Amino acid sequence: MPVWRIVGGDRLEGALEVQGSKNAVLPILAASLLTGGVTRLRGCPALLDVDASVEILRGLGCGVMQNSGEILIDSAKRPEHHVPHALMERMRSSVMFLGAILARCGEVRLSAPGGCELGARPIDLHLKALEALGAEVSHSGGEVVVRAARLKGTRIRLDFPSVGATENVMLAACAAEGETVLSNAAREPEIVDLQSYLNAAGASIRGAGTPEIVIAGKMPDRPLTEYTVMPDRIVACTLLCAAACAGGEVELRSLVPAHIAIVTDCLREMGCAVRIERDRVLLRAEGRLRACPAVETRPYPGFPTDAQALLMSACLKAEGESVFAENIFENRYRHVPELRRLGADIRVEGRTATVRGVKALTGAELTATDLRGGAAMVLAALGAEGETLVRDSGHVLRGYESLDRSLRALGAEVRMETD
Ligand code: UD1
Repeated sequence: MPVWRIVGGDRLEGALEVQGSKNAVLPILAASLLTGGVTRLRGCPALLDVDASVEILRGLGCGVMQNSGEILIDSAKRPEHHVPHALMERMRSSVMFLGAILARCGEVRLSAPGGCELGARPIDLHLKALEALGAEVSHSGGEVVVRAARLKGTRIRLDFPSVGATENVMLAACAAEGETVLSNAAREPEIVDLQSYLNAAGASIRGAGTPEIVIAGKMPDRPLTEYTVMPDRIVACTLLCAAACAGGEVELRSLVPAHIAIVTDCLREMGCAVRIERDRVLLRAEGRLRACPAVETRPYPGFPTDAQALLMSACLKAEGESVFAENIFENRYRHVPELRRLGADIRVEGRTATVRGVKALTGAELTATDLRGGAAMVLAALGAEGETLVRDSGHVLRGYESLDRSLRALGAEVRMETD
């Protein structure tokens, strides 16, 4: 099993480019099925989930070529409508293929994604919305089957602004007759990126980034679509929180600072000096930080659930009490018992975690529990005395191209080994 070996205590210093966004590229890869032509996608991060998506596209009959950060997808041939279980289970986000395959083939069959480390993660909102567009949903042998002789544009209101359900509606509605108006839609930047890609591919969608998205329907085939994926805001948060944990001065380039304003505001209130320029953020952390203001995870533009564990690591040694409320996933404090092994003082009651800052953390042996929780452990270890081992069956690599290399480039002593 891969093991992270971290020796804490080094200040971080230096500048890094932020990788392309995982949560943006995955729905765009699924969306490439809709074009009936070739998509040239730039800025794709090298991640296991991206590889899994590429395998699904190949399995469906698309020609796919990968060359460093660029992926070429040829979906001119009508794809298969079935995703085998073995491919589906490689990543949860494969549920995006539901809307995309339905739009292209009028039928889709795939194994319903089960729960994950973060909780039950049902897809009821996705299915209800597809039914509203005229699809019929059935279940057979652990698979969900969605069929639509014809999809019809309509008004849909989501009970909760789910990111995945919003993306699935956008994809399916691109093949519907007539206009779809989606209200209470998720407003995450990755939704805006999906809209930009689909519009570049010939669709007519407006409103992404607001609670109401209008999709004109029936997008034409397009021989070639070129698109560059947005930068990863959660990776940016990770590197900034790393500097807050270890102390030091880092500059992040090629990002959209507005996407992470709620997190940089917290870091500033904790005592970090944060300077924001057009597509750069500079952060300096010196001495002991203060506790962060109350954090409540919410759909965008609220505090991102994916940054909760990362910021928590930055609070472990901060002076005073930091209070977190996790409102998106029911099971997102699994990193807490591991962080306690470093000497952190964290109390969890229901959805609330209270961190009382300690003077020092000490290296220990930890086990990564999920993607961001695992990254949070690596960050906390940067601020701990001595050596920390984080055993990781592959969680962290799902979301970071090379977190170890990035941290080493900033001067941290971090290595990945296999034991
Ligand atoms: C996406 C992100 C993930 C992020 C999350 C919230 C991707 C690949 N993943 O996940 O990193 O943490 O947004 O910002 O983009 N829910 C239901 N029924 C549904 C759908 C969702 O009850 O049909 C619940 C979920 O269980 C969860 C909450 O709604 O508690 C939010 O889920 P959602 O916004 O759909 O997240 P994902 O799209 O799965």
